[in-house]
Amino acid sequence: MDVVKANGAAIPVVGLGTWTLRGRECTELVEEAVAVGYRHFDTAQMYGNEAEVAEAVRRSGKRADIFITTKIQPENLAPRDVERTVKDSLSRMNLDHVDLLLIHWPNPRVALADTLGAMAKLKLAGATSHIGVSNFTVALIEEAVKVSPVPIVCNQIECHPFLDQTKVIEACAKRGIAVVAYSPIARGNAPANALLERIGKAHGKSAAQVCLRWLTQQGIVVIPRTSNKSRLKENLDISDFALSDAEMKEIAGLSRSKKRIVDWAWSPKWD
Ligand SMILES: NC(=O)c1ccc[n+]([C@@H]2O[C@H](COP(=O)([O-])OP(=O)(O)OC[C@H]3O[C@@H](n4cnc5c(N)ncnc54)[C@H](OP(=O)(O)O)[C@@H]3O)[C@@H](O)[C@H]2O)c1
Repeated sequence: MDVVKANGAAIPVVGLGTWTLRGRECTELVEEAVAVGYRHFDTAQMYGNEAEVAEAVRRSGKRADIFITTKIQPENLAPRDVERTVKDSLSRMNLDHVDLLLIHWPNPRVALADTLGAMAKLKLAGATSHIGVSNFTVALIEEAVKVSPVPIVCNQIECHPFLDQTKVIEACAKRGIAVVAYSPIARGNAPANALLERIGKAHGKSAAQVCLRWLTQQGIVVIPRTSNKSRLKENLDISDFALSDAEMKEIAGLSRSKKRIVDWAWSPKWD
């Protein structure tokens, strides 16, 4: 599988998002995903499915080839809590390390330098191969780069054609940080979009595939979620066609609708 390289990490360009997948449904879906070719899985302390994701990966016998990301909940960002809860995550997953450990959401009540310092210690101890952040704005990325003892490899952010993320994407690129797009098919809104459908028809692809390709063609990693085994392959099969410059521009024009999907009371002040 193609990878995006960033600050020493090689992140498979398509991963499976697993938010909402639980229990046996989650294990079976991840097993099927490995079988059809996925080598990257995105979980989090908050999702309550770290154990199931890891169990399916272990059963596949392909752990060494698979990239697993987990994320620390915002209330666990004090150094002692980082250490304790990541230990708990690894023990739930029955793994000695994850590939990427992220701050799930910034928490202004905890100094970023303290959290990143604790995460760097975990990296040096081998509990994670890389560290990164999620839902960071340009200002937070700049602060993180300044205070982190080890390189930040990614910023996982909401990213799809209906939201203009140019500023934060440029800030990440400047620092060699990969952008990992969450909600990359806009929570299922992209497949019904007429423009994406029309472009897809010209390439023999679905609107969802065009949407994902638009992101990966910009060097962005995508982690679409599906609970539907038959869609796993569709969301993975996006490397055998290319969008023209004109198509890329036309799709970028969809961001005029400015549709942010994920926004909470605790969100930072977005760019
Ligand atoms: N860091 C963060 O704060 C954060 C926030 C949100 C999400 N995430 C991560 O990003 C992942 C993906 O984001 P998301 O779950 O918000 O949204 P998404 O992947 O953009 O959309 C998922 C929705 O799209 C549908 N879908 C998937 N493939 C499809 C296809 N080919 N055609 C038509 N519909 C399709 C799914 O329905 P079916 O299940 O019926 O296929 C599901 O309802 C999450 O699972 C999570 O791992 C991270």
